[in-house]
Amino acid sequence: MERAEARSRRNLSWHRHISRARGGQAASLPDQSGRVAVVTGANQGLGLETARALALRGATVLLACRDLDKAERAAALIRAGDASAKVQVVRLDLASLASIREAATTIRALSTRLDLLINNVGVMEIPLNAPRTVLS
Ligand SMILES: NC(=O)c1ccc[n+]([C@@H]2O[C@H](COP(=O)([O-])OP(=O)(O)OC[C@H]3O[C@@H](n4cnc5c(N)ncnc54)[C@H](OP(=O)(O)O)[C@@H]3O)[C@@H](O)[C@H]2O)c1
Repeated sequence: MERAEARSRRNLSWHRHISRARGGQAASLPDQSGRVAVVTGANQGLGLETARALALRGATVLLACRDLDKAERAAALIRAGDASAKVQVVRLDLASLASIREAATTIRALSTRLDLLINNVGVMEIPLNAPRTVLS
């Protein structure tokens, strides 16, 4: 319980920190026009806000997510803020090497350049006895 509350407090603080990017007001983020970014886990949380900030500053952003429905909803949210936002979704489950290879092939097919790779998906506070996965 204490652990969950601590995580929730940290989440709030990070989301406040990054919320300055909302509505295209990422004051410290320079123009990203012409750049291509991949953001993993971009359907929610910090990944979504990072993808949103990059897209609203002109980047083409590939939302690399394991659930395509969630990814499409996130893309729609970003486009709701700017109909000209260049966002596309790519299926990527980082717990599967096959999915990682497939995503790499898709990304190569979608773009000849990649300027930013935001490895947002990660794990923290893993119990010591948790089974090892590709991600961990
Ligand atoms: N928030 C904080 O306070 C904080 C502090 C320090 C570090 N971080 C790090 O920042 C990153 C994002 O944090 P967050 O709070 O925004 O997390 P979050 O809201 O829980 O979002 C995690 C994202 O990762 C995706 N994901 C999880 N496992 C995946 C997998 N196997 N393959 C592909 N995508 C996967 C989730 O997809 P689904 O929606 O499909 O589950 C979701 O989009 C994490 O690496 C976290 O450890 C966060």
